[in-house]
Amino acid sequence: MPIIVVGSSKGGCGKSTITTNLITMHQAKGLGSLLIDADSQRSSSNWVALRASRGLTPEVVAIEKTGGDLKRSAVEMAKHYEHVFIDAPGHNSPELRASLVVADVLLYPVKPSNFDAWVFHQDFEDLISNVRSINEGLKVMVVMNGLSPSPAARGQEVLALREFLSAYSGLYVSPHFVCQRSSFIAAAREGRAVHELPGKADSLARAQMEMESVHTELMKVLAGERPEASSLIEGVQP
Ligand SMILES: Nc1ncnc2c1ncn2[C@@H]1O[C@H](COP(=O)(O)OP(=O)(O)OP(=O)(O)O)[C@@H](O)[C@H]1O
Ligand SMILES: [Mg+2]
Repeated sequence: MPIIVVGSSKGGCGKSTITTNLITMHQAKGLGSLLIDADSQRSSSNWVALRASRGLTPEVVAIEKTGGDLKRSAVEMAKHYEHVFIDAPGHNSPELRASLVVADVLLYPVKPSNFDAWVFHQDFEDLISNVRSINEGLKVMVVMNGLSPSPAARGQEVLALREFLSAYSGLYVSPHFVCQRSSFIAAAREGRAVHELPGKADSLARAQMEMESVHTELMKVLAGERPEASSLIEGVQP
């Protein structure tokens, strides 16, 4: 079943945050999934261990896999789980390259900064284009992460990212994005996803809604309901 790689060569763009939130949401919806932590820094494995030590449910099952075996393991695991999520390391690593060869979807988080945009350019040229000559069906879903919670500042960020990304073809830019919110940090501290945090604060509700929307979007991409067209960049509304 589908393999989803949450990957980018840019460190700190939100791969582990997005992976842990999405997979928990996935499990809560009764969709069986496995998390493969392909990063030797073990962020998502540590999060899973914390979650397990607190007895939180639904359980998130994770394995750690680095090195040459990753590709084979992912394919093997995909036979047993409805979805496999791979949390990739934050550099152009053998793990990232190997996982993309067998992936159905690359979910690529990008922050609203030129530093992220420059890495995206490099990844598009060196990684995505090359991998597509082997894995033609690879879908790329770009998710803007860490946008400003303030609508005015966010508007500028979305416009700039949208313009930048429009130069690349064969991408699906998610119309749903994730803002910079302390709820994501609070959730990680507890081994939870944002939708598991109690409280009625507006910013928490927004964090929950944002992640839920990204999850829905991912499911649509997996179901083939989203075209790979850069024209859809116009759909991202600040
Ligand atoms: N939307 C967000 N709002 C607030 N904090 C965030 C958000 N996304 C990520 N962070 C924080 O930014 C930091 C980096 O995020 P994360 O570890 O998920 O990135 P990463 O891409 O997995 O990093 P690495 O490349 O090191 O694996 C973490 O401290 C995380 O809590
Ligand atoms: Mg990480």
